Amino acid sequence: MKTCRVEFPGTSKPAVDLEVGVNLSENLTIHNSPILFGCRIGICGTCAVEVVSADDPLPERTFDEAQFLEAMAPGQDSVRLACQIRISTNMKLRKTQV
Ligand code: FES
Repeated sequence: MKTCRVEFPGTSKPAVDLEVGVNLSENLTIHNSPILFGCRIGICGTCAVEVVSADDPLPERTFDEAQFLEAMAPGQDSVRLACQIRISTNMKLRKTQV
């Protein structure tokens, strides 16, 4: 089972290692990350994160995620909705607001 590391720079939360292919919203909780989730379907923006860095590019935004972020965070290409991200690479995430 291949895993990737998710880190939260600037917080006291330790890195978590997650299996490739799993959705962040299914594995990050208030206990292991600073990222909060609401709807978990990409319509509330609670889980907005800045992708500080990633070893490889993340999968493209889904159509719905792209539409939401173009409205709420125009021009901020590093902002993603964590609930729409499946683990594919090591990454560093920072909670942000949209
Ligand atoms: S939890 Fe609502 S957009 Fe991700």
